[in-house]
Amino acid sequence: MYRSLVALTFATAVLGQQVGTLTAEKHPSMPMEVCSAAGSCKKENTAVVLDSNWRWTHVTSGYTNCYSGNSWNETACPDGKTCATNCALDGADYAKTYGISSPSSGALKLQFVTKNSDGTNVGSRVYLMASETKYRTFNLLNKEFTLDVDVSKLPCGLNGAVYFSEMDEDGGLSRFPSNKAGAKYGTGYCDSQCPTDIKFINGEANVDGWEAGSGKTGTCCAEMDIWEANLDSAAYTPHPCKVTTQTKCEGVDCGNGDDRYAGLCDKDGCDFNSFRMGVDDFYGTSKTVDTSEPFTVVTQFITDDGTDTGTLSKINRFYVQGGKVIPNSAAAVEGVDAVNHISDGFCKQQKEAFGDNNYFATVGGMATMGKSLEKMVLVLSVWDDTAVSMNWLDSTFPTDADPTKPGVVRGRCDPGAGLPKTVEAAHPDSYVIYSKIRLGAINSTFAA
Ligand SMILES: *[C@@H]1O[C@H](CO)[C@@H](O)[C@H](O)[C@H]1NC(C)=O
Ligand SMILES: *[C@@H]1O[C@H](CO)[C@@H](O)[C@H](O)[C@H]1NC(C)=O
Repeated sequence: MYRSLVALTFATAVLGQQVGTLTAEKHPSMPMEVCSAAGSCKKENTAVVLDSNWRWTHVTSGYTNCYSGNSWNETACPDGKTCATNCALDGADYAKTYGISSPSSGALKLQFVTKNSDGTNVGSRVYLMASETKYRTFNLLNKEFTLDVDVSKLPCGLNGAVYFSEMDEDGGLSRFPSNKAGAKYGTGYCDSQCPTDIKFINGEANVDGWEAGSGKTGTCCAEMDIWEANLDSAAYTPHPCKVTTQTKCEGVDCGNGDDRYAGLCDKDGCDFNSFRMGVDDFYGTSKTVDTSEPFTVVTQFITDDGTDTGTLSKINRFYVQGGKVIPNSAAAVEGVDAVNHISDGFCKQQKEAFGDNNYFATVGGMATMGKSLEKMVLVLSVWDDTAVSMNWLDSTFPTDADPTKPGVVRGRCDPGAGLPKTVEAAHPDSYVIYSKIRLGAINSTFAA
């Protein structure tokens, strides 16, 4: 994602790194399939876990919040270390509190706004689990990743995001012993925006300098955006980093503000958004990919020598809808070859055509992204954007730029539609459904 500040307005959201026992933690089941070259697929009993940032955190001795509104309880949390000792993360009531449910086996529905007895929950983020205590890690090189999406109830300004982050398999439990909760409670998040709104990083609370829901330290790692989309826009985007494991950042390393092209990670990434790449009738309601109906999204990670140990060279995209395979649209922008995949060559031409900084190349481009793709954790989410109203995905961005300049217009949405206050009031019933997650050899996961 381009910006990652999640609108976290769950009124009593609070957290810690010990384990709370007031609500039992029961991971909703979400089985996936692993397919062989012959196209035969085998079921794997995976499940999902809610990220720790959404959870209630209270003092280990009782019900007192460790964090409420936008601030930490100074008694329980005078500093990050003490706070992690005093506070516990509790189990989640997935459906009632967070609007996370399973409409059928292998499917997951994420509700945008959920009213509950404690207030209102906005958006959610879950990770795929291999067991009770470990995330399911993916090696994507020379493989393809496929899932079905239903974005028909996801209007402008929202983002149903499916992506991979290079998180620790155990949520940081073994590297950071003060973290007692681990993957079972959704700890250890990181992404290429090096988010600073994460309340616990590396087993310590992000208390120092915490203001308006954001602390002094961030949590960085490589990110591969498979799918960031709504009814009107979609993008897929590799974001490599200079680090190859989850890394806590401070100062310049976090890449905030003027440091954007000096940080550990490539925050812009190298995106392929069909609309931005000059084809405005490819994706949307009644377009070539008709977003009013569900469809399949296929992403292939091609290596230079066609083996699992090769170097990542191309990322391909196909769609399948109504039994028909639909190749990705080809770029139609002056100065960019008419390709429909992502490669170092595409990224270089695209950045030049749009006048963007090619920090993707500076950080190491496809080869560096490929190294990270060997051990990724799958993230499924729905969110709105407190920073820039999702304009970078579906509207004009920067909003004050000349819309006739190549690369500025990314979709047909009104720039005001994605303002969190507006979209939360106008479309609280929005939701996204993800289903049929598949991993396999190239061309094994879909019927061509
Ligand atoms: C902060 O936590 C302490 C116990 O650690 C508790 O006595 C106090 O009431 C809490 N304050 C608030 C505002 O919740
Ligand atoms: C995979 O399928 C696509 C779409 O049908 C086709 O264009 C491509 O050649 C196939 N690739 C391989 C390696 O079979």
